Amino acid sequence: MEIDRCYAKIHLNYILHNYQQVKSLTKAKDVLAVVKADAYGHGAVEVSKMLESHGCKYFAVASLEEAVELRDAGIKGEILIFGRTSLINLHYLKQYNLIQTVHSLSYAEELNDQNANIRIHLNIDTGMSRVGFYLHSTRDIDGVAWDIETIAALKNIQLEGIYTHFADADSSKSDFCETQFNLFEMLLKELENLGIKNLIRHASNSAAAIKHLDKHLDMVRLGIAMYGYPPVPTKLEFKPAMEVFARVHSIHYLASNDTVSYGRTYESEKPEEKIATVAIGYADGYNRMLSNQDYFMIKDDQLPVVGRVCMDFTMVKVEDAAVHDGDFLEIFGLKKDLRGMCKSLDTIPYELLCNISKRVKRIYIK
Ligand SMILES: Cc1ncc(COP(=O)(O)O)c(C=O)c1O
Repeated sequence: MEIDRCYAKIHLNYILHNYQQVKSLTKAKDVLAVVKADAYGHGAVEVSKMLESHGCKYFAVASLEEAVELRDAGIKGEILIFGRTSLINLHYLKQYNLIQTVHSLSYAEELNDQNANIRIHLNIDTGMSRVGFYLHSTRDIDGVAWDIETIAALKNIQLEGIYTHFADADSSKSDFCETQFNLFEMLLKELENLGIKNLIRHASNSAAAIKHLDKHLDMVRLGIAMYGYPPVPTKLEFKPAMEVFARVHSIHYLASNDTVSYGRTYESEKPEEKIATVAIGYADGYNRMLSNQDYFMIKDDQLPVVGRVCMDFTMVKVEDAAVHDGDFLEIFGLKKDLRGMCKSLDTIPYELLCNISKRVKRIYIK
């Protein structure tokens, strides 16, 4: 079907390129592809299928539903669920051969009581204070190790891996990442002493995968860099994988002092001011806070956004650019870096990519 409004062009070949950049960097056995939140908006099924066909063996998602979507689509590799799965849904973990993250002894015991022989990785909170076994100082090591020893002895769960998550691996100022990693390593040592060995150990996200080569352990968990936005400076080339385009619905010529859109926040500055109404709005994930703050591109011309962004439409000032009904404008992509929009919105690429909504059709480039 012809696209009447907006679409996202997803360069699967760039995602593969970015994945391979990190693969070439690491001595870790595996690079796990983080494909939660529909692969940060890029399409979890398409991204995972492509990566699997090039040898990727591990995927991670946030929830059981996301994991089931991948299995139903034919993904054969290991799928780790970061979030919590309700007891009532546990049978799906076995049925779909999924790996469940365990964040506490009580949850492990609940899983064990189900008699379902569930595969697990443990999440150790070394300073993120989000989820996981609390290990914020050396004083906590014995208690956490005792919990894990108890879990390792449970008959109906298989302890296969252990991980932690860094709070600021992208920081150039702090050494908190070192503190977290040291604690994690001390725990791993203690577990070895207790005879708990051969766990798959992982800690590094994109920032640490690029910047902290000494913290890769058995596997790195690669998210945002795979989509083209390395969160730390690097000599490696990462290519942004998503571009968004939207179609000009119609062109208008305003009189002086006409106002544009809800709240009348923009007033035309001259007679015959040329305005294009573009078929993208906040329901597509184009943030309303960009009203009067951003621009769209056509060829090399920048067209400033004027007036408030609506649910389905955004207006831009055309001036001398050659723009016609039905033309596609670039909202972000190869000519206009998403990071400029992030700056205006005081946010990060993760959020803007995830927010590109379901109704924006994804078109895949192989
Ligand atoms: C537990 C965990 N590991 C890895 C990642 C991937 O992080 P990044 O996208 O910064 O590579 C995330 C993302 O939020 C995460 O929650």
